[in-house]
Order: sequence, then C-alpha cells, then structure tokens
Amino acid sequence: MKLGLFGYGTIGRGVYTLVDNIKEKYNLEMKKVFDLPQKKDQLGEKLVTDVNDIIFDDEIDAVIEVLGGHDLPYQVITSCLKKGKSVITANKEVVSMHLEEFINLAHENNCSFCFEASCGGGIPVIRPLIDNIKVNDVNDIFGILNGTTNYILTKMDDEGLTFDEALSLAKKNGFAEANPTADLEGLDLVRKINILSSLAYKGNISNDDIYHYGISGVTREILADIRKRGYILKLVASSHKEGNNVSIRVEPTMVPIGHPLSAVKNEFNAVLFTGSTNGTLEFYGKGAGSIPTATAIVSDLVSIIENRSYIDYKNENKLIVNENKVNKGTYFVVDRTDKISIEANLTDEQLQAAKFYARLLSL
Ligand code: HSE
Repeated sequence: MKLGLFGYGTIGRGVYTLVDNIKEKYNLEMKKVFDLPQKKDQLGEKLVTDVNDIIFDDEIDAVIEVLGGHDLPYQVITSCLKKGKSVITANKEVVSMHLEEFINLAHENNCSFCFEASCGGGIPVIRPLIDNIKVNDVNDIFGILNGTTNYILTKMDDEGLTFDEALSLAKKNGFAEANPTADLEGLDLVRKINILSSLAYKGNISNDDIYHYGISGVTREILADIRKRGYILKLVASSHKEGNNVSIRVEPTMVPIGHPLSAVKNEFNAVLFTGSTNGTLEFYGKGAGSIPTATAIVSDLVSIIENRSYIDYKNENKLIVNENKVNKGTYFVVDRTDKISIEANLTDEQLQAAKFYARLLSL
C-alpha cells in the first residue's frame, strides 16, 4: 500500500518512523510527504509542497493528516475521501466539527476514516467506545484528556516548577499544540470530549456549546492549598447524558487523593466511561507526545490494512447541550483579591468572574 503524509512536524516524524518499522511486514511505502520547502533536507525527493500532489496521485491508497489547524486539513480530508483514499487523522479540531460529514464521505466512497489519535493520544479509546455502545448505553464520560496541562500541574505541584517553566518543558517534549492557548484554556479538551460524547450519545454537538475554563490562573500557592485540603488539582472534561439533555464541561477539578484520577501524572491521560451493562471502564496511558500518538495513528493504518476499520456514526439524537445555568456542586473560589472561599451552586458567569476556581469532586 502506498501512503501520503500531510505534515512532518512532531507527530508526522513519529508516524514516518513507525511506518518505516513495519513497512516490510505490511508492504507499505511512504510515497510522498507534504510540508514546507524547508523540510527538503530531511525528506529529499519524498517532499511535496502542493497538497494536490498527494490528493491526485492515484497510486496513493491512504493518507495520514497531522497538519493541525482547520482549513487546510478540512480541504485535504474531504478531497482525499472523495477520491476514495482512506484517511487517518489526529486532528481533534476538524474531527470535532465535521465527524458526521467525514464518516459519510468515507462510506459513500468505500474507504475508511479513522481518528483514534484525536482523543487520548496513544490510548486506544475511540475503538473500545464504538464497540461498547453497540451493546451498551454509555451516558457518562469523565477524564483527563490533555497531556500538556496535566504535565504542567504535575511539575508545579510535585517539583515546584513555575507555570512558565513547566509550560516550556511541555513544549520542548512535544506535548503542547503549536499555539498552547488551546491546551491551557481547555479548548483542546472541549474538542476531545465532544468527539467522545458525539459518538457515545449518537448526536452532533457544537464545540461552542461546551463550557470550558482553563488553568492559566493557577499558582503553586493554590496547588499547595488544594493539596492541604486532601485534593490534587486536575483539568477534567466531563460529560453526562440524561434523556436528550447533555451536560458537558471542562474545568479545573479538585480530585480527592485516592481517586484513580489523582494518580494520573505528567503527560498521561485517563478516561472513564460508565456503561449501562458493564459499569465503569477506565483507560489510561500516554495522552501526548510524538511516538505514543503516532502509535495510535499507525494502529489505525493496520486496522485499515486488516479490513477492520469500519466506523458507524449516526447523528440520530437531537441533543440539548448545557441548558442548566446553575451548577449544582461545591467550588473552591479564589476571588480578585486572592481571598479563598468554598461556595455552592454558582452560575457559569460567577465562575468565570473568579481569578481561579476549581470544582470539588467527591470520592
Ligand atoms: N496538545 C495535546 C495534549 C496533544 O497536550 O494533550 C495531544 O492531543
């Protein structure tokens, strides 16, 4: 099988290496790689600087899109699927916005659309969820779904690094997005919890309807205070469905020491699904980084080769997202004068007005 790769950055290089490792076993050839002309030194004759050189190459059967961003990836994915090329992507932004369209295009053109690496980096989470919901109703999804912010919180709390020191290490290790604001403000988690929830609840969800609050305001003093109270701070994405009403939130959360999520450190992620017939399942592993993410991508590729990549997605439920305006629960609130208080039943507006806040989770 001949392949095309769109993007030779952190993840693209990992994909290139892993494809090279298995090329004999699966008879693979990475025929062309799209990136900027500056990558010529690394890629030689394989480099193309026009996406059409891959899209219109009839010898290429499958492509991997790891460009990041929206417009070019959207164009590349839709064009390749229309040409009957299978597409594998790690791009949570486009998948969260166009899941139904991509799946339909793949079905119409007898090819595959796979996106395991879009949620949880190297953790196989999409496929188990898809298999599970065939026999089970999953109405609760909960977890740490961003490696960068979990890495920052761990390094600040366990090793006393400043926020900026921890962020620059996360960038150096290849965990952060090109623009890390999406990580820090929770937008990356919005996209991931959207993908998982849309699949589980069988309905389209707009990223704009998902509440999110990030960790930019966190300090080492806040983390120490939270720890003294018996909690560890985590940026958590949660989603719950009752009837067609869905509540989806991304917010700093105080996890009691002893809860499974409290032990998830550095770039590791963990996600928990609760099913109607099998209770809670927990998935844990490396949520970011070149080789773990590339492993999920290349596993998708092998699933295509072995003819087990079919994904069904039906937008059959009209979901009503985040209708409740008052949040039941208890909150740790740091106000603009640095006064800390514990409060209950706050609106999103009250929460957003805080200098920093975290929701308390009970065991
Ligand atoms: N920036 C993302 C993260 C990469 O830190 O989790 C993996 O999706």
